[in-house]
Amino acid sequence: MDWKNLSFGYLKTKYNIRSTFKDGEWSKPELTDSEVIPLHMAATSLHYGQEIFEGLKAFKGKDGKIRLFRWEENAKRFRHSARGLLMQEVPDELFREAVFSVVAANKEFVPPYGSGASLYIRPLLIGTGAELGVKPSAEYLFLVFVSPVGPYFKAGFKPVDMMICREFDRAAPHGTGTFKAGGNYAAGLRAVEKAHKEGFSNVIFLDAKEKKYIDECGPANFFAIKQNIYITPESPSILDSITNKSLIQLAADMGLKTERRKVPVEELAEFEEAGACGTAAVISPIHRVYDPAEDRTYVIGNGEPGPVSEKLYKHLTAIQLGDETDIHGWVTVLD
Ligand code: PLP
Ligand code: COI
Repeated sequence: MDWKNLSFGYLKTKYNIRSTFKDGEWSKPELTDSEVIPLHMAATSLHYGQEIFEGLKAFKGKDGKIRLFRWEENAKRFRHSARGLLMQEVPDELFREAVFSVVAANKEFVPPYGSGASLYIRPLLIGTGAELGVKPSAEYLFLVFVSPVGPYFKAGFKPVDMMICREFDRAAPHGTGTFKAGGNYAAGLRAVEKAHKEGFSNVIFLDAKEKKYIDECGPANFFAIKQNIYITPESPSILDSITNKSLIQLAADMGLKTERRKVPVEELAEFEEAGACGTAAVISPIHRVYDPAEDRTYVIGNGEPGPVSEKLYKHLTAIQLGDETDIHGWVTVLD
């Protein structure tokens, strides 16, 4: 495996793990080497979008041990998403057992320390019961697969350019934005494709109601630095990013003030640094933001990662790899 040159893509590993919910009970999770799912053609996941997922990572430290970052937060958000789409919640203990077992079964796919790569873990929950009317399924499949990955944004920790989108919304204020539901990503595809076609790394979605405030940044949250303040959008339609929450804490530890509030688009002109953050993206600094409505380009920084973003990136990745003391108890070492 060419660990250093991995991109963010699917690579086959040895095993995935599955548990089914039927007659009111979850089955014991079982490992399998099959990459396919036998699925009823009338399953609610296929027709009515009962599909949610998660994303977390495992890292190999200098000591050769495998570490998982904040899996409890992913388990909690998975339950939140399940409630949002009226799906069966996966109990945290089942989530833990499946995630830890599948990582242990695929140990050789955890990229080595120093490669910059990690093992991406993808829990998935789908409605499998056959229904024709629009209603929640009585049966579910919970599956976890893994794939070794490199950075989501090809540039890695290098500033990228983003485009603002007003034409297409990812999610509405009282819609499904806070849930990690597949439908949100389908809804965003046209915007992302437009940004790619115009040469941008990704899209900045605005709030769907007023189109005045920054919502999210592709598959990641947005943050910015101004006058020693870490600023990140407050919105009823964004995914509550675990990376963002961690960065808020690390920023506070570094002595910065932190603000979660509405972020008007024009404030981009005042930021000293900006970035997208998420499990897949880690931190992707943002250099330019193009706003087609005004034919205006906001330039943030000098094209190199800003000092605060760089410090945050180093702290976060050092904790994930076990190079820095895990003072917040975010890391679980696999036995
Ligand atoms: N926002 C969206 C839409 C995402 O898909 C993700 C990725 O999970 C994030 C934000 C970042 O969340 P997290 O840091 O928990 O991975
Ligand atoms: C993640 O960061 O885990 C994500 O889910 C992003 C993904 C949609 C590529």
